[in-house]
Amino acid sequence: MARAFGCARIQRHAGNRSRLFSLNLFPRTGRDSLRNRNRPARLHIGRRLESTRRKFAASTVAGVVSLANRKRFAADRTSDKPMTPDFIHEFVPGSSNRTLLLLHGTGGNERDLIPLGRELDPNAALLSPRGKVLENGMPRFFRRLAEGVFDLEDLQKRTHELADFVKAAAKHYKIDINKIVAVGYSNGANIAASMLLLRPEVLSAAILFRAMVRLIPETPADLCSVRVWIGAGSNDPIVPASETKELAELLRGAGADVTIRFFQAGHDLTQQDVEAAQEWLKV
Ligand code: MLT
Repeated sequence: MARAFGCARIQRHAGNRSRLFSLNLFPRTGRDSLRNRNRPARLHIGRRLESTRRKFAASTVAGVVSLANRKRFAADRTSDKPMTPDFIHEFVPGSSNRTLLLLHGTGGNERDLIPLGRELDPNAALLSPRGKVLENGMPRFFRRLAEGVFDLEDLQKRTHELADFVKAAAKHYKIDINKIVAVGYSNGANIAASMLLLRPEVLSAAILFRAMVRLIPETPADLCSVRVWIGAGSNDPIVPASETKELAELLRGAGADVTIRFFQAGHDLTQQDVEAAQEWLKV
């Protein structure tokens, strides 16, 4: 039985549906989001999500603010001071005080998860950085030595850099640092898990799609007030079920309220994942 540090823990399950998730991976979010001036124009697609994009028709991104509202928001709520450290990123203002920190998979970029973020919470602000590590030209959030073999030193360094960026972005965009929810897919979920363990003060909750554990912190984190939802594929060729369960136990041991769901799926994201995560986020 995992240690819970006296935190209440509630397991919640959403109903199962077999429909596959349809993600628009070519959103024209550039019109509606605040974009870092330094970002190159070229669009990279998440490797794992590319097949999903090919199979399904594009869906519209609901709830993205209008250009006029964006300009007003930009004038009122961003600071002129440069962010340190900075990442190439997208920021989409929201109408609630929650911000989703969107972390893409290997080969993705800062635009990939914007539609997913909007689908998960139409009212939240969205902060979506691009990973700084390039693996054969594919952006990632930390180095790895082989598939599933992480460069732990780099993972730790990059985790702290990302956490510092989130804090700087919170000041810059005047968002509530206590209401930041990480939403990570694959490599993005792995750095989100690492942030929970190394920098627990930055996140109030996390949604981890296809995450694994590789990092055991020297000092256990206190995650007593943190909620975590983990979505795994029971046929995932990259993340074995034992890895997902181990991650859940590690987080529970640190006091987090962890919900873990297994879906009849591989490494790709499904509509079932998204609907279950959406329900969990509403509570
Ligand atoms: C990782 O390197 O983070 C995981 O192996 C997932 C992936 O990006 O393939």
